[in-house]
Amino acid sequence: MPARINPSILAADFVNLERDLDKIASADLVHVDVMDNHFVPNLTFGPQMVGRIQDVSKIPLDVHLMIDNPDEWALGYAELGAYSVTFHVEAAADPVRLARRLRAIGARAGLALKPGTAVDDYLDLLPEFDQFLVMTVEPGFGGQSFMAETMPKLARLRAAVDASGADIWLQVDGGINEETIVTAAENGADTFVAGSAVFRAENPADQISLLRESATRHLHGPATS
Ligand code: DX5
Ligand code: ZN
Repeated sequence: MPARINPSILAADFVNLERDLDKIASADLVHVDVMDNHFVPNLTFGPQMVGRIQDVSKIPLDVHLMIDNPDEWALGYAELGAYSVTFHVEAAADPVRLARRLRAIGARAGLALKPGTAVDDYLDLLPEFDQFLVMTVEPGFGGQSFMAETMPKLARLRAAVDASGADIWLQVDGGINEETIVTAAENGADTFVAGSAVFRAENPADQISLLRESATRHLHGPATS
């Protein structure tokens, strides 16, 4: 299974969004960062905009909710057809109940952890989720530097997922580029969000292929050849 590359449209041109979505049609999913100016100090867009993105995107939506009270707001994104809805454990009142409700609507349920949030309390709950998102920057802005200190947490999750045998994706988000994607892959990620690295490239489609090949070579352990 090749690595998944999910470009983040936070780095796209918001007034030419359909054009920019077409540039990343060869990616696996389109990563859609919803920010509410409360959970993070930045504001992007809400369900109306995400619904239009869903209408025109040629690939499925990977919605990343950086919002307070996801228990109330996350379900709407599943209802409008998002393939995957990831919410932050720091913001959710009842993560397991919310994940079950998202799955009941038909979305994959994802749990995101900020760089300083430990994973240990959630390892028993792995089967309740389809994806874990290890933030490799503080959420809120694109273009930040990858935090390598989050890698032990990712490796712990990889070991737990492998032991469970469940089909759970491990996603990293923030500062992913040609170099850091190798580190993240070696530490257990299989799904990679990249904003600046894709949209600032001269040819986003070529960059997606390059990132995918590089990550796939290093999936789960250093490459042997
Ligand atoms: C940050 C967002 C990321 C962001 C990544 O809070 O969750 O998805 O777009 O951007 P880059 O790849 O530029 O770090
Ligand atoms: Zn994101």
